[in-house]
Amino acid sequence: MGLLQIAAAVMALAGVTLSAPATPSTIYCDPESEVCYSSSTVGIASISYRLAIPNVTVTPFDMLLQIVAPKTAQWAGIAFGGHMINNTLAIAWANGNTSVISSRWASVHEIPEPYEAAEYTVLKGSVTNETHWTVTALCKGCSTWIHDGGSKTVLDPNSPSINLAWAASPYPVGDPADNYTMLAIHSEHGTFSLDLAAARTDNFDSYLKTLTS
Ligand code: HEM
Ligand SMILES: *[C@@H]1O[C@H](CO)[C@@H](O)[C@H](O)[C@H]1NC(C)=O
Ligand SMILES: *[C@@H]1O[C@H](CO)[C@@H](O)[C@H](O)[C@H]1NC(C)=O
Ligand SMILES: *[C@@H]1O[C@H](CO)[C@@H](O)[C@H](O)[C@H]1NC(C)=O
Ligand SMILES: *[C@@H]1O[C@H](CO)[C@@H](O)[C@H](O)[C@H]1NC(C)=O
Ligand SMILES: *[C@@H]1O[C@H](CO)[C@@H](O)[C@H](O)[C@H]1NC(C)=O
Repeated sequence: MGLLQIAAAVMALAGVTLSAPATPSTIYCDPESEVCYSSSTVGIASISYRLAIPNVTVTPFDMLLQIVAPKTAQWAGIAFGGHMINNTLAIAWANGNTSVISSRWASVHEIPEPYEAAEYTVLKGSVTNETHWTVTALCKGCSTWIHDGGSKTVLDPNSPSINLAWAASPYPVGDPADNYTMLAIHSEHGTFSLDLAAARTDNFDSYLKTLTS
């Protein structure tokens, strides 16, 4: 990508932190897989973040995570604790006609490091077209995390409103094929909430089957 294109991409994403609107959590059903998620769309660049979880009342649980972003977002991430520092981060980007997702953690406002306690599997429906990229992934280990030397945070599957954060960058990642690659800072970030109770489904296992077969 040339400097002018990067500048244009920065402008497309910039200014957004001023208002960075997030839509209320709604149920979105993917027309191709028929998987239904709790979904919110954030920012002027309009990135959608979606979660589906099994029909449970206690933590821990696996999650289906879908992110749909315009190609001006060279990476887009979600912070499961609602801020950048000391919680589980998932960062995704396009790689050719598919997508990559990386498990990270930041203990300072610097490039997040690999985080081994959460693991993602990229599933069907992780595609890139002319304008957008989508990642659809299973996360094991995203519903709870240990931080600050022993405190445990859990996501409550009964909650109609969990607080999450997001960030996106117009700067390309180092090597898009490599989930350990270096990332450049975001140009915008914000918070949003999702209805996790409504993200629960009795169909979780069949969703997984559909997305892996
Ligand atoms: C190279 C990677 C990154 C760098 C260098 C970086 C750096 C920073 C810095 C310096 C700030 C404070 C300035 C400000 O508030 O604007 C900040 C804030 C923030 N960042 Fe990052 N960041 C990176 C990646 C990420 C990722 C991957 C996420 C989410 C998935 C994220 C989410 C946030 C959020 C939500 C804030 C607001 C304040 C907070 O929650 O701590 N950042 N980042
Ligand atoms: C995606 O790209 C790979 C490698 O270039 C190619 O083999 C594959 O057929 C492509 N898949 C689709 C769905 O376009
Ligand atoms: C990268 O992918 C491998 C293979 O799926 C996985 O074992 C590893 O945990 C991932 N690392 C990160 C940082 O996401
Ligand atoms: C590209 O993908 C996005 C996100 O799924 C979709 O909204 C858009 O219609 C797609 N464009 C084309 C040309 O298929
Ligand atoms: C993050 O965790 C580290 C190490 O556990 C701790 O020293 C630091 O104060 C925490 N930072 C924030 C902002 O909570
Ligand atoms: C979840 O399970 C409860 C208890 O079996 C049931 O009442 C409820 O309808 C289920 N919810 C969904 C969305 O499947």
